[in-house]
Amino acid sequence: MKQQEDIINLLKWYMQVGVTETCGENAGLINKAPAAVPSVGVSANQTPIEQPRPIISSLAQTTTTACKNARELCEKAQTLEELKQIVESFDGCALKFNAKSTVFGAGNLNAEVMIIGEAPGADEDRLGLPFVGRSGHLLDKMLLAVGLKRQDVYITNVLPWRPPGNRTPTDSEVAVCLPFLKRQIDFIKPKVILLLGGSAANALLDNNDSISRLRGHWLEYVMSDKTPVAALASFHPAYLLRNSAQKAKSWSDFLRLLKKLKEN
Ligand code: URA
Repeated sequence: MKQQEDIINLLKWYMQVGVTETCGENAGLINKAPAAVPSVGVSANQTPIEQPRPIISSLAQTTTTACKNARELCEKAQTLEELKQIVESFDGCALKFNAKSTVFGAGNLNAEVMIIGEAPGADEDRLGLPFVGRSGHLLDKMLLAVGLKRQDVYITNVLPWRPPGNRTPTDSEVAVCLPFLKRQIDFIKPKVILLLGGSAANALLDNNDSISRLRGHWLEYVMSDKTPVAALASFHPAYLLRNSAQKAKSWSDFLRLLKKLKEN
């Protein structure tokens, strides 16, 4: 438990000094942070930890451990409500400490359509619900255009916590939170999954292709029990708000979705 507390304190300190990456290219920022502040595992009469490098590798280990913990916790969840509580009390993703809310999925638990975005933005973080800001309003309009209301679908995100400044989630953040998303899919058992944006498409389909390549045709996601689910990637509404010329492509994606729903 002490070790866990140390790690949490360390992550809080990283956030205070502005560190947003603990691995990857930007991790060098850690070296520029003041060395005197951390008190991780150091009592008054011990020599402080001087070198940040072991801390980085211990954080890489922390990510691996957090992924494992997330997977194990997910297996314990027998209902969506239990899963929600597990996510709310999970401390393995540093984003949580900077966020106001844990934004879990919301909507129709018997939905045929499950919509997956990237991560909560400022409005979602404030209100604790997915897609309630500008992107959400555009999504509502797009759904309505194909005859779907918000009450008809289940909406969630890859990450339940807002990344600072809405930055793109890191690979480790996605890896740690992915088991929670996959377990939500197991409970909802949708007929189709709509992946909004590259982060959601890459995370769930386990590839690195651009959203421009992925969008517009049916792909497949396989649930834990090996059931295949039809998955369609499309542009994220936030991208459409900045690039309205792409709305026509999104419209064709939504029509494709509607056609699939009418099959069988
Ligand atoms: N963008 C997302 O990806 N998800 C939200 O919930 C809101 C904005």
